[in-house]
Amino acid sequence: MNGDLIIKNASELVTCSGYKAKRGSEMGELHVIRDGAVVVRRGVIESRGPTREVLSGLDEGDFTIIDAAGKSVLPGFVDSHTHFVFGGYREEEFSWRLQGLSYMEIMRRGGGIASTVAATRAASMDDLVRSGLKRLDSMLSFGVTTVEGKSGYGLDSDTEIRQLEAMAELDSVHPMDVVRTFLGAHAVPVEYEGRGDAYIDHMVKEVLPEVAERNLAAFCDVFCERGVFTVEQSARLLTGAREAGLGLKIHADEIVPFGGAELAAELGTISADHLLHATREGIRAMARAGVIATLLPGTAFSLKQPYADGRSMIDSGCAVALASDLNPGSCYTESIPLIAALSVLHTGLTVEETVTALTINGAAALGRAGTVGSIDPGKKGDLLILEYPSYRFIPYHIGVSAVERVIKDGVVVYDKTLSLAGIPRGITRDPKRK
Ligand code: NIG
Ligand code: FE
Repeated sequence: MNGDLIIKNASELVTCSGYKAKRGSEMGELHVIRDGAVVVRRGVIESRGPTREVLSGLDEGDFTIIDAAGKSVLPGFVDSHTHFVFGGYREEEFSWRLQGLSYMEIMRRGGGIASTVAATRAASMDDLVRSGLKRLDSMLSFGVTTVEGKSGYGLDSDTEIRQLEAMAELDSVHPMDVVRTFLGAHAVPVEYEGRGDAYIDHMVKEVLPEVAERNLAAFCDVFCERGVFTVEQSARLLTGAREAGLGLKIHADEIVPFGGAELAAELGTISADHLLHATREGIRAMARAGVIATLLPGTAFSLKQPYADGRSMIDSGCAVALASDLNPGSCYTESIPLIAALSVLHTGLTVEETVTALTINGAAALGRAGTVGSIDPGKKGDLLILEYPSYRFIPYHIGVSAVERVIKDGVVVYDKTLSLAGIPRGITRDPKRK
């Protein structure tokens, strides 16, 4: 378990090679090596290439060896936008939406985010860590090795910080890497009803400084949307966050066109997320500014909204990332294969672009393209072995995970071949016993 690992004879090694976001036509290049091998030493990728070349002269003695014949090997997925730490659920709200109520109507009636805020304020640190662990386990089984998680269900200093601390704890106990984002401006809490400006002031002057000083978050995010926070309020918060040393993200143009993409470009945020209703000019501005467009097609699916136009974003020269948006309201799923299927069927990305968006571009959206997101020397040994010979099975097996084994820092942390009720593969059961 020291992170010394060799995977060899893979039908293909999908390296997604690169150390920064891929834009436009680069997104279609996966850099696939046939009959590939990868060597991981002490958790870090040492070399990769055709099996014969990589293994020649190497003493395999001390390594854990995996023969991946007939299987595709990829970098671990990076889910760069989730809200996975929360209290309570909103299953009744899902039914209301089926009866015709919109997401924003439910929110205006005091449901939606406010309902999860009440449940999260009531949750202890222990509750948040326990439920978070279960969700991380599930994400890991889908091949996610790095995940971003947002606060935003406290909307008061104590609970926002508790959410961030819970994620720090989860990062230290779970194999997955958890990147924290402060989303104190997710909604205006009841205490500040009708006083959005005062709430932003409170965030900038009282909460952000503590978050920054205690290194509780790498990024600051805001729900910039009609009826939530204006472009001006969002700009004020994000500018304050930048001054405090945080990276910037924005929920932009999710429900209506609102100038979120344009603001992202103006501020040079690392990503702008959702973009279902982003304008053409907003997209072009993002491409010029190098803002990563993070698409969350699970949310469009769950809210029955039109999908973001990923095709024109890539054709305009944008870097596109894909993420789950796992949250208890607008999109309760962590299913990466579902996201991949929606990406190719509804946002206009090719299968190759989808893989790029889930790996190196997801990593870049978290400022981690130098350490994860591709199978390149010097990066973490975060790898996936599929049960199929080709990456094309990822969206094709709709909603069902093609991932057989997940490797984190060179160690196998999830293995589907062992999980079938504990029955070893290849054993024929005595028909009389059942
Ligand atoms: O990304 N849009 C704002 N935030 C989440 C939804 C949060 C919720 O409904 O609880 C989103 O869709
Ligand atoms: Fe979100």
